[in-house]
Amino acid sequence: MREVAIIGATGYTGAELLRLLANHEKVNVAYITSRKEDGKHVFKIHPHLRGIEKYKDLYFTGNVDKVEADLVFTATPHGASMDIVPDFIERGMKVIDLSGDYRFEDLALYEKYYKIKHKGLPDVKIAYGLPELHREEIKKAQLVANPGCFPTGAILAVAPLVKENVIEERIIFDSKTGVSGAGIKPTETTHFTNVNENINPYKITTHRHTPEIEKELKKLGKAKVSFTPHLAPITRGILTTAHTFLSKDVDREEIIEIYKKFYKDEFFVRIFSEEIPKLTWVRGTNFCDIGGFEIDEHGRLVVISAIDNLVKGASGQAIQNMNIMFGFDEKEGLFEIGLNP
Ligand SMILES: NC(=O)c1ccc[n+]([C@@H]2O[C@H](COP(=O)([O-])OP(=O)(O)OC[C@H]3O[C@@H](n4cnc5c(N)ncnc54)[C@H](OP(=O)(O)O)[C@@H]3O)[C@@H](O)[C@H]2O)c1
Repeated sequence: MREVAIIGATGYTGAELLRLLANHEKVNVAYITSRKEDGKHVFKIHPHLRGIEKYKDLYFTGNVDKVEADLVFTATPHGASMDIVPDFIERGMKVIDLSGDYRFEDLALYEKYYKIKHKGLPDVKIAYGLPELHREEIKKAQLVANPGCFPTGAILAVAPLVKENVIEERIIFDSKTGVSGAGIKPTETTHFTNVNENINPYKITTHRHTPEIEKELKKLGKAKVSFTPHLAPITRGILTTAHTFLSKDVDREEIIEIYKKFYKDEFFVRIFSEEIPKLTWVRGTNFCDIGGFEIDEHGRLVVISAIDNLVKGASGQAIQNMNIMFGFDEKEGLFEIGLNP
């Protein structure tokens, strides 16, 4: 049995880690931290976990320095993670950080989009935690930078096309996200009356996930990424529509074959050649469903992906990464099936 800790376990991704790890046979949650709920029982803050035997003696601690574990999940905001992570690394623990702090090799790019000064990367093996592209690096890493939610859905939607060099350089992603993507703290933007019955575009050309998507796709081939997110009146889920333009003479069947081949060993990526992916199918699950593959008369190829932002877009992917780092079955703790409807 391995011991893990969750920093920031009062938040949405922290809660989701607790929900999924309740069913994980090979890890025990030894510590959960919160600055404001120090000393409280986990069931007090997360009543939906009541009755889970594994958590009956689990209390929040406010003291991050006390945390000892084989692996630490930092489910904390960017900026806060880089204050906490180096100490765990120095003490020899493995870390999976859910923030953007360790996703960029190029810190100038991070600083440009996150508008804060980076405190530097620790001198250990760091991997970008998208298993479908970086499994071997994740196995060897002490620090895994868990990908952003939008980048997960966007990169997986077009990676085979970029790798096979069948599309032009410019790729346009249009994504709709649920409100839980913004975290637990309510704001004017996430207020019910602003969200309900609206689809709100935001940061239409400047979202910080744009360079993250682009730098990962550039590792596979040529890519110039444009990305516009929209806030939708739903709690969970990201539906991404990727608009690309074919550069080779390939038809729909050949495109689908490229995807099936690229993801043939990937349990968590499902290719739908007929149906269009739905958010309900992936809700609560670690799946990324990909479909569409339609080509219009101007050579535009449209691919649709659906993920749950809190699972494949965050905590589920973090557990998938942990399973890889510990040499467990990658699916352990992630046997969730979605909903229909
Ligand atoms: N929500 C998503 O869909 C999603 C998807 C992918 C990645 N992420 C990333 O994952 C991280 C967590 O996201 P979230 O949605 O779970 O956020 P959240 O709901 O706001 O929770 C973050 C938690 O971190 C703790 N925290 C805040 N500032 C801290 C600090 N300075 N030091 C230590 N702890 C601090 C807070 O707990 P206390 O106040 O109790 O200490 C808070 O509950 C973020 O970096 C986010 O960008 C989120």
